[in-house]
Amino acid sequence: MYLVTGATGLIGRPLIETLLAEGAEVRAVTRDPHNAGLPAGVEAVAPEAIHTALKDVRGLFVHPRATKDSIEELLRLAASQGVEKVVVMSAINVDDDPDHQPSRFNGDRNTEVERTVTGSGLPWVAVRPGSFAMNTLGMWRGQLTLGDTVRGPYAGFAEAVIHERDVAEVIARALLDDSLVGRRIPITGPKALRLDQMVPIIGSVLGRPLLFQEVPAELAAQGMIRNGLDEGFVRALMARYQREMQRSATVTDEVEKVLGRPARTFATWVADHKGAWS
Ligand SMILES: NC(=O)c1ccc[n+]([C@@H]2O[C@H](COP(=O)([O-])OP(=O)(O)OC[C@H]3O[C@@H](n4cnc5c(N)ncnc54)[C@H](OP(=O)(O)O)[C@@H]3O)[C@@H](O)[C@H]2O)c1
Repeated sequence: MYLVTGATGLIGRPLIETLLAEGAEVRAVTRDPHNAGLPAGVEAVAPEAIHTALKDVRGLFVHPRATKDSIEELLRLAASQGVEKVVVMSAINVDDDPDHQPSRFNGDRNTEVERTVTGSGLPWVAVRPGSFAMNTLGMWRGQLTLGDTVRGPYAGFAEAVIHERDVAEVIARALLDDSLVGRRIPITGPKALRLDQMVPIIGSVLGRPLLFQEVPAELAAQGMIRNGLDEGFVRALMARYQREMQRSATVTDEVEKVLGRPARTFATWVADHKGAWS
């Protein structure tokens, strides 16, 4: 039996599908078990019932957002119930200075959750994804419903965004076989792309002539803050863009090493989410 926290989220749902396809039994933690909409055969449990949910669990997936306030208690219970392995997701920037991790300004605590797991005494694997491809939808969908041009800062900023299904499949492998125990695994998409390359790729999949037009960083920052984004988050994001422009983007081949096939491309991700752009 495998227990998945963060089960209804972006990574949790494809992780559950992958585990089921591999023939595993799955229990899922969600704050709203009655409306979770999980696949047939998956037992949905509320966080309050975690003690009983851990019974007979061989592998536990720790989602950092869903467990950040309860991680120590969760691991204590897991150890007492005989859980054999814990796989934690964190992020590729988890060793950076906290002020340089934009997600911290939204309340995420990837560094602390990963450290608690790796220091728990239980066998562990830490999966550290780079930016999810899904972020592009949040950044650009609004503008692309209004026209064919995305206006934003740092056209030359490049990163190798990862398909969320690849993240889920690497986590599933880490749960299902023991060869990855004790590893911190940085995973990315197959190729770094600049922002002004990514938007035309979306265009080629959607059959639209899409372009990225650079605007000054300060102007863009002020617009994001006016639109309701947290100022600390926006400043950390801009600082990250500026910093990363000075060095080459991180690209790893860990997805291919773990899964035995190349990581999915950004074009594949867009094709898998074609309907989401209009
Ligand atoms: N976006 C990126 O580029 C990126 C890259 C690397 C790492 N990360 C990290 O990945 C994590 C986000 O992963 P994700 O997109 O899978 O998350 P998500 O979909 O937002 O959340 C996963 C699930 O956790 C539960 N949840 C959400 N907020 C919660 C809260 N405050 N308290 C308790 N439960 C909560 C929800 O389930 P229920 O409502 O069913 O309980 C939700 O479906 C973050 O830690 C982020 O820093 C993100």
